[in-house]
Amino acid sequence: MMKYIEDELNLLEQNDLKRNPRIIKSESGPWVELEDGKNGKKVLQLGSNNYLGLANHPDLIQASHNAMVKYGVGSTGSRLLTGTTILHHELEMEIAKFESSEASIFFSSGYSANLGVLSSLIDKNDAVYSDELNHASIIDGIRLSGATKFIYNHNNVRHLENLVSENCKNFKRNFIVTDTVFSMDGDIAPLKEIAEISKNYNCIPVLDEAHATGVFGKNGCGVVEELNLEEYFPIRIGTCSKALGVEGGFCVAPKVVIDLLKNKARSFMFSTSPSPAIVGAVLKSIELISKNKSKKEKLWHNAKYLFNGLVQNKYLRLNEFKTPIIVIYFNSINEVLKFSDFLFDECHIWAPAIRPPTVKVPRIRLTPMSTHSEEDMDIVINAFRAFSVECLEEQRT
Ligand SMILES: Cc1ncc(COP(=O)(O)O)c(C=O)c1O
Repeated sequence: MMKYIEDELNLLEQNDLKRNPRIIKSESGPWVELEDGKNGKKVLQLGSNNYLGLANHPDLIQASHNAMVKYGVGSTGSRLLTGTTILHHELEMEIAKFESSEASIFFSSGYSANLGVLSSLIDKNDAVYSDELNHASIIDGIRLSGATKFIYNHNNVRHLENLVSENCKNFKRNFIVTDTVFSMDGDIAPLKEIAEISKNYNCIPVLDEAHATGVFGKNGCGVVEELNLEEYFPIRIGTCSKALGVEGGFCVAPKVVIDLLKNKARSFMFSTSPSPAIVGAVLKSIELISKNKSKKEKLWHNAKYLFNGLVQNKYLRLNEFKTPIIVIYFNSINEVLKFSDFLFDECHIWAPAIRPPTVKVPRIRLTPMSTHSEEDMDIVINAFRAFSVECLEEQRT
């Protein structure tokens, strides 16, 4: 009975695609202690989404502790039954205020936010135009909606417009859905053009700002805020698990939309509500991000510093610098694994290899944090230099 499962695992193994998580034994700061080796020495963390270093911030830990002491460990039920404390209510008000929106809904993760929002607002009579590199949770949410899906080439507005103009008349409603920051390529969706197309063809746009919240915009609300496009994108999804340093996902939208989501989104209705400790920490995180811009500035400083150091290395194929996500592309899975192992084994740098099915082209994705130092960035730049030289020597021999 288990044979087909073993076969599937063996196939993954043979193709270098079987993965096992590394186990962390310390708090998740810029340097972390792992279970596998290094004799207790910490490794330099370059692969997390903890952009602002808030995941282990003392104020968040304290807020989480206070919430737990006051409301208990578990939330005891789903949001519509016994799982809505005054803290959950307060958080939804704060998220709406933070995002300059009328209302918000809080989910237990960004993944369930995308599933719940897309499957509730879109149905089988509708069409969805989706960027080919959209996150898996968007893809799954669209699948669940039963709508007809048109995939446009990555960030290609001409392709998007062609698909919309050819097909929009055949459907009840038309939705355009995209990430704003693409997490594995570190680039940004062409939001001005998408706003224009949405207006011209009467489409409803839905954005996922997961990797933009806390990183872009005057107040850290995301790319929409950065570009002053709020009026064109009233429905926006976000996550609290990246720059906010905690977990949970949200959607901001006009109140009617949020009221419907609270009554229809299955991932909201049929799952136990996030624990008070999480809610307390997210509230504190939003407060810190709203009050203090220096973490965001330091993140951008570190990212620019790292990019400037790496771009001088002519052996590397890098993405363009648009976000703090720096990507180095490789020709094969074998090559990227070899490089990631070299970084880990020889240089004590933890930058996991990203490979299919997450992406088509294998890559290393470097995500500096605001809590890294310039010396940390120099370690990475020097490691890439050393590896390039080694490869070159290998090719010569
Ligand atoms: C664009 C995007 N949307 C949604 C998610 C899911 O968010 P979460 O990790 O909070 O479930 C992610 C996380 O990887 C993401 O990158």
